[in-house]
Amino acid sequence: MTDYETILVETRARVGWITINRPEALNALNSQVMRDVVAAAESFDADEGVGAIVVTGSERAFAAGADIKEMEGKSSLDMVMGDHFGGWARFAAVRTPVIAAVAGYALGGGCELAMMCDIILAADTATFGQPEINLGVIPGMGGTQRLVRAVGYYKAAELVLTGRLMGAEEAERAGLVSRVVPAADLRAEAATVAETIASKSLPSVYAAKASLDAALETSLAEGLRLERHVFASLFDTVDQKEGMAAFREKRPPEFTNR
Ligand code: CAA
Repeated sequence: MTDYETILVETRARVGWITINRPEALNALNSQVMRDVVAAAESFDADEGVGAIVVTGSERAFAAGADIKEMEGKSSLDMVMGDHFGGWARFAAVRTPVIAAVAGYALGGGCELAMMCDIILAADTATFGQPEINLGVIPGMGGTQRLVRAVGYYKAAELVLTGRLMGAEEAERAGLVSRVVPAADLRAEAATVAETIASKSLPSVYAAKASLDAALETSLAEGLRLERHVFASLFDTVDQKEGMAAFREKRPPEFTNR
């Protein structure tokens, strides 16, 4: 397995775990973290033995944002020519469902990284926000776009324009977080969700994620057309026959990912 400098990586029960590990900087997302997380996610994505990915951080911080010290001295041209956050698009493009298990700070790029995932589980200690306005900039890894889609324009506008942070309960009420759990249970809850997804048939899981993604990108009519097409295509899989036969025979399905 590749050596990573800023993350810990393991595979357990068909789930690929990525733990961001820069405690000295509250897991701030510098270029090396981006390279490591993207490489690990793509490597899990290429592994048929992995059916779901969990991204997490420490008890204190999921990630406290992009690395301010790395960016501070850069010019606008440096940011453009260096395509500073460009690599994250590859993370957002993985086929495999990704669960963000968030404890502590998920600020700026940390909140944006969580929003690149498909499911956000939060510890009761989690704090979300886009405080870039306090630094004289704006979100640059998707915050103005994904937060609007997640919580609606008005709440997103308040958070982005004031830099106010919100706790886990508020984030759940706003629809950003699917569930809040006690901090001590976060990894176990994330494992349960991820292992549940990883126990399904991969072709249908990939199809579900692709179809869900389309809901954020296309009109309703186009999205419905795509969903019907993807739904129909699954009827050529072995697992569709197995899933429906298992239902008729009143037994659990045995999927082979074919
Ligand atoms: N970048 C670089 N270093 C960071 C960092 C960041 N985003 N966040 C924290 N750190 C570092 C601190 O500089 C500090 O390092 P030193 O001990 O060497 O000084 C260490 O992590 C611990 O942080 P604090 O001492 O500040 O811890 P705290 O408990 O007092 O405060 C905090 C925690 C409120 C999260 C505070 O660290 C903070 O406000 N961090 C910055 C949050 C932020 O503005 N994030 C947005 C970044 S810009 C961005 O993300 C752009 C984008 O859209 C992609």
